[in-house]
Amino acid sequence: MNALLYKSKQEGLKYTANADIPVVKTGEVLIKIKAAALNHRDVWITKGLYPGIKDNVILGSDGVGEYEGKDVLINPNIDWGTSQKYPSTAYSILGMPTNGTFAQFITVAKDRIVLKPSHLTIEEAAALPLAGLTAYRALFSRGKLKKREKVFINGIGGGVALMALQFALAVGAEVYVSSSSDDKISKAISLGAIAGINYKTVDWSEVNKSLANSFDLIIDSAGGEGFKHLLKLAAPGGRIVTYGGTRGVIPAVPPQLVFWKQLSILGTSMGSDQDFTNMLEFVTKNKIKPIIDLVYPLKEGLKAFKRMENGMQFGKIILSVF
Ligand SMILES: NC(=O)c1ccc[n+]([C@@H]2O[C@H](COP(=O)([O-])OP(=O)(O)OC[C@H]3O[C@@H](n4cnc5c(N)ncnc54)[C@H](OP(=O)(O)O)[C@@H]3O)[C@@H](O)[C@H]2O)c1
Repeated sequence: MNALLYKSKQEGLKYTANADIPVVKTGEVLIKIKAAALNHRDVWITKGLYPGIKDNVILGSDGVGEYEGKDVLINPNIDWGTSQKYPSTAYSILGMPTNGTFAQFITVAKDRIVLKPSHLTIEEAAALPLAGLTAYRALFSRGKLKKREKVFINGIGGGVALMALQFALAVGAEVYVSSSSDDKISKAISLGAIAGINYKTVDWSEVNKSLANSFDLIIDSAGGEGFKHLLKLAAPGGRIVTYGGTRGVIPAVPPQLVFWKQLSILGTSMGSDQDFTNMLEFVTKNKIKPIIDLVYPLKEGLKAFKRMENGMQFGKIILSVF
């Protein structure tokens, strides 16, 4: 079968027409994949910047496919466990170390599949699982977002960030964004964000003057040098939820900035199976349609990876498989 295979650190990611069709084990089902979506995780893996990388693994955490004549989407969680607070020690994410969705066929445990919400196209549904789950838990399970609260989403070009914008708007929050691109800020405003700042060119001292102590909830996946600005944007009693480290280590932060304002800094990663079910119900109830950036045929998967690596996308990058 056709697949995008992470071969090794030396050989990187390769398209192959000769991957083996997986053998179905007890409790599993064989899914004929129709579309899959990229996440930054896939890019980190190809660069060797992810824990537990194994050679010769088909990448991909998000997929929609056909099972017994019906379109189903796949929950990328494997063995989260029963706690709502954190995953079990056996936890992993589909697409490393187990084979993922960038292939014509995949086997997954039967309880990992759910029917595709009927208001979504195949591509929209493929965009949803990992980013939707992460955004949902960040905003609601961890961030406890409520109607009319003010939210700042850092780096709106991100797949999770954009999903968070759509979800936050659906509950009546007031959303502000940042981006490296003025064009992405305009697009976010046209979706319902109130305003945005370009984190590359903005004068932070001015932003802090106008927006300091403003935000009830801040959603961040960048970390790094810019994190200190977020502490200043947060309102007294505010919550900052972090789910990524794109810009690396957060340099020294004065504790006074955190304790004086009674801030909560909350970590989140993926989400429980309960979060996944809640997210799907939320998306279905609010008829939310994930934004699609571009659709590439599986064969052109390497181009799709480049687009994500270069941060060109606004919306999810999709691979069309069958
Ligand atoms: N823990 C989890 O469960 C989980 C789940 C999903 C993702 N993540 C992590 O979260 C990050 C984003 O993932 P993704 O799949 O959404 O990636 P993505 O779609 O590739 O988005 C990355 C975005 O990060 C933004 N960014 C880069 N540098 C920034 C900075 N200095 N300040 C603010 N924003 C910055 C950019 O936004 P602009 O284009 O607007 O500048 C870029 O588009 C990655 O590090 C990923 O590994 C973690």
